[in-house]
Amino acid sequence: MPNSELAEMVDTSDEWIRARTGIGERRIAAPEETTCSLAVNAARAALDKAHVAPEDLDLVIVATCTPDYANMPATASLVQHALGAPRAAAVDLNAVCSGFIYALATGSQFINTGAYRNVLVIGAEVFTRILDWRDRSTCVLFGDGAGAVLLQPTDTPGGLLSFVLGSDGAGACSLYVPAGGSRQPASADTVAERGHYVKMQGRDVFRFATRVLPDSVLRALEAAQLTTDDMDVLIPHQANTRIIDHAVRRLKVDGTSVFSNVERYGNTSAASIPVALCEAVDEGLVQAGSTVVMSGFGAGLSWGTVVWKWHG
Ligand code: ACO
Repeated sequence: MPNSELAEMVDTSDEWIRARTGIGERRIAAPEETTCSLAVNAARAALDKAHVAPEDLDLVIVATCTPDYANMPATASLVQHALGAPRAAAVDLNAVCSGFIYALATGSQFINTGAYRNVLVIGAEVFTRILDWRDRSTCVLFGDGAGAVLLQPTDTPGGLLSFVLGSDGAGACSLYVPAGGSRQPASADTVAERGHYVKMQGRDVFRFATRVLPDSVLRALEAAQLTTDDMDVLIPHQANTRIIDHAVRRLKVDGTSVFSNVERYGNTSAASIPVALCEAVDEGLVQAGSTVVMSGFGAGLSWGTVVWKWHG
C-alpha cells in the first residue's frame, strides 16, 4: 500500500509521511493470511536455507504482539504444527518491537547450555489488524511481515557475543492497545470506543527511541569488548528513518553500513529486524565473519541489542 492510498483514507500526504518517517509504502496481509501463515512461510525459507528438516527442530519461538488468537493458544504452537515439527517445544514471546532481539537472546541460551541443537526464532506480525485506519498519527507507520533465523551450535567462535535487554514500564501507555486484556476486557463498549486499536504518543516514543538505541548499542558493544569501529553492519529496528539517522549521528559511525528498508515496509514491529537481516544477507552486506549489531526498541517501553558474529 503506497502512501498515496493512505492519503485517500485520512488527512495525510506522501510528502508528510516521507519527510517525518521515510516510509514510502507498506505490505498489508491478505484477508486469509495471519501471523501464523506469514511465520510459517518465513520459517520454511529459513529451514530450506539451513538444510534442516522440521522434524529436527527442538524449539520454535515466535516473537509477536499480533498473535493469531488474543489469549490462547500461542501462535508458536500453530506454527510448530503447520511446519510438522513434532519434537519441538513452542512459545510466543511478546516484547513488541524489541521482541525479535529478546527471542534471539533467549533462543541462544538453549544453544549455549547444550539443551537444544535447532532453535527456530521467528519475528512475525500482522500489525495492520490492530491499526485504527481513521487515526492518521498511527495508521501511516506500520506494515505486516515475517522473518526467521535458525540457531545451531558450532565449534567456530562467534554467534551471540553479547546482549543488552531493558524495559521501562513507566512508559507503558506511550504505545499500547487499551482494551481486550484483563484490565479492560472486550465488550460492546470497548469496540464502540475503538479501544482495540493501537494508541501512541509519537513524540514520547521518538524521544525514548533516540535515547535507548545508541545507548544500548554502545553498552552491548562494550559487553562484547568491542567499539563502534568493530561494527561492520548495524541493523536497527525499522521504525522511522529519522530515528535511525539520529542514532547514527550520536554513534558517530563512519565505516559501518547501516541497513534500512523502512521505505518499502514501514514498521513491521517484531518482524522488522529479521526481514532487514535477510535482505542484508541477500545483498551481501552481511557476510561470514561480519560483526552485526541488531537493535530494537518499542512498546513496553522496551529495548534490546545483540552483537552477533555472523557465520553465514
Ligand atoms: N499526516 C499529516 N499530519 C499528521 C500526521 C499524518 N499522518 N500525523 C500527525 N500529523 C500532524 C499532527 O496532528 C500535528 O498537527 P498539529 O501541529 O496541527 O497538531 C503535526 O502533524 C505534528 O505532529 P507530531 O506528532 O508532533 O509530529 P512528529 O514530528 O512528532 O512526527 C511521528 C510524528 C512520525 C509519529 C514521530 O513522533 C515519530 O516518529 N515517533 C516515533 C513513532 C514510532 O516509531 N513508533 C513505533 C515504535 S516501535 C513499536 O513498539 C511498535
